Amino acid sequence: MSHLIARPVDGLSGRTHVPGDKSISHRALILSALTVGRSTVEGLLAAEDVLATAAALRALGARIEGPDAHGRWQIDGVGVGGLTSPAGALDMGNSGTGARLFLGLLATHAVRATLIGDASLSRRPMGRVLDPLAPTGARFEAGEGGRLPVTVVGSADPLPLETRLSVPSAQVKSALLLAALNTPGLSRVVEPVPTRDHSERMLAAAGAEISVTADAATGARVIDLVGQPELAPVDWAVPGDISSAAFPLVAGLLGAPGGAPVTVTGVGVNPLRTGLLDALDAMGARIERVNPRSRGGEPIADLVAYPGRLDAIEMDPALAPRLIDECPILFVAAACAHGTSRFTGLGELRVKESDRLAAMADALAANGVGVEVLDDGLVVEGAGGRPPGGATVATHLDHRIAMSALVLGGVCTAPVPIDDTAAIATSFPGFVEVMTGLGAHFDAGRR
Ligand code: S3P
Repeated sequence: MSHLIARPVDGLSGRTHVPGDKSISHRALILSALTVGRSTVEGLLAAEDVLATAAALRALGARIEGPDAHGRWQIDGVGVGGLTSPAGALDMGNSGTGARLFLGLLATHAVRATLIGDASLSRRPMGRVLDPLAPTGARFEAGEGGRLPVTVVGSADPLPLETRLSVPSAQVKSALLLAALNTPGLSRVVEPVPTRDHSERMLAAAGAEISVTADAATGARVIDLVGQPELAPVDWAVPGDISSAAFPLVAGLLGAPGGAPVTVTGVGVNPLRTGLLDALDAMGARIERVNPRSRGGEPIADLVAYPGRLDAIEMDPALAPRLIDECPILFVAAACAHGTSRFTGLGELRVKESDRLAAMADALAANGVGVEVLDDGLVVEGAGGRPPGGATVATHLDHRIAMSALVLGGVCTAPVPIDDTAAIATSFPGFVEVMTGLGAHFDAGRR
């Protein structure tokens, strides 16, 4: 395990960009593998989670090569329904998205495959996808409590799905849509609480017959998908990941008021992903969206974060699905704000790469921030400036805890070490270089 120490700095400034969106990268590879012909992906996130998806697709029969000299990946698809049984287990590493999407994908292929993952992923619940996938006719042999390893015996004669999601989860929704893709007839997934809609957008881009309507009575999103289409190859372009941009942006906000801004260029600003910007706005932050444009069917913009005073918020729990991955770094912002913030509606954080409520509460409390842990959230007493710092943060194989703690160290009075940097590579290779380029100070020296 390699540790790293984040030392206090006066603030960050400058212009940078972040790697491609993780959610879109997984989906670009998977959908490409299901087209007939050759697709390309530009801006793919070449991080461990996505590389695990690429390796799994290769093991199932797709050809994936890249990146070429222009940073482009090439995928030769096998067509919807064309995946074949792998020779060995599919190792999803740390990736909950990979595990859930492949469970859906394989449920309606006549294959037998075993999914495994690292210690963090092997603790995460898979019942949330296995249960709604059961009506397809697939069989699942799961570990204790519906956890990995899971062996899928896919249904050769799958039945259409008609499901109402019981957890607000884009992973579960997407698993069901991927299962429906190789099922004859019309499947319907009803989503009472909207979650990121990359799968819907990308299925439409590949030529699937998919429609999204709002239920007049409840406002729920109703997604209808006609199975077994022939998907056409796509030249995908992946926007920068707002979940990665969140770290330099919040670090930029927390610099000395009046200082120069941090700009992150080409960031995906899909409205179902921008809850962090809304929460920070409610705290009084100034983040400007400039040069709005689109890339690969997704809205993007350059985001400019100006350092300034932040005030506490009582977060609207309805924001939760739109900022779920950004909560750890939002808690760091709250730790520096003026006043006591209250975050609720965040029970899903307990089943991410780590229990993020517990992990962030421990990290902040150890570094002198007053926190109260709720069942579904946190109360954070803002220091109204720099928290004390000085204590090592345990990262629990969780990239977002590691990166949030390294931002925390830059804005505390004393340095903050983290116990292990390894998990950062699952989503944001180059994090240390990006942050250092903006003025962050990390070292591996003595504490
Ligand atoms: C993701 C969905 C979210 C998110 C994860 C990526 C996706 O998970 O936390 O990092 O790509 O579909 P849930 O949908 O389970 O909340």
